[in-house]
Amino acid sequence: MLAYVRPEDTALEIGAGGGRWTRYLLDFKKLYVVDYHVELLTELKKKFCKPGMEFIKNNGTDFPGIPERSIDYLFSFGTFMHLDAPIIEIYLANMKKILKPGANAVIQYSDKTKIMAQLNENFSENTPDKMRTMVLNAGYTIREEDLTTMWHSSVIRFTI
Ligand SMILES: C[S@@+](CC[C@H](N)C(=O)[O-])C[C@H]1O[C@@H](n2cnc3c(N)ncnc32)[C@H](O)[C@@H]1O
Repeated sequence: MLAYVRPEDTALEIGAGGGRWTRYLLDFKKLYVVDYHVELLTELKKKFCKPGMEFIKNNGTDFPGIPERSIDYLFSFGTFMHLDAPIIEIYLANMKKILKPGANAVIQYSDKTKIMAQLNENFSENTPDKMRTMVLNAGYTIREEDLTTMWHSSVIRFTI
């Protein structure tokens, strides 16, 4: 992640929870934090009160108030691993509107080819093959995949 943090860029995190990863994104010029649960956003606001940060409650797939073609870097960890394919597909379609051409999106998702995901029923039915197909069908170019670091999930980086 740190290689993408540039003070002139705008970033978006989906599903920040307690801000475990948000704290590494603070050096972006502008940072949108989007989450489905308003309570988490309220807590997060107390923790990170920095100019240029915007906290947005969404409906689980949308990006209300985020201008089209405004995001240079999109990041999500610990969220897509719980989302089912139809939700991921809607997210991927909605992201296309707000990402700048050439923007990087990095998403960690459930990988049911791995034993730790198979053992956890809260992990969605996703695999690298399924994720690749969804990303490509949405019209993105896959740039990088990490299929080995995590025991229960994988990470994909793609551009518009
Ligand atoms: C397990 S927490 C992960 C938090 C953090 N990213 C981390 O890695 O520690 C999942 C977060 O995603 C949010 N979330 C769940 N479903 C979501 C959705 N469809 N859209 C946006 N946020 C969602 C939850 O409210 C929560 O903040």
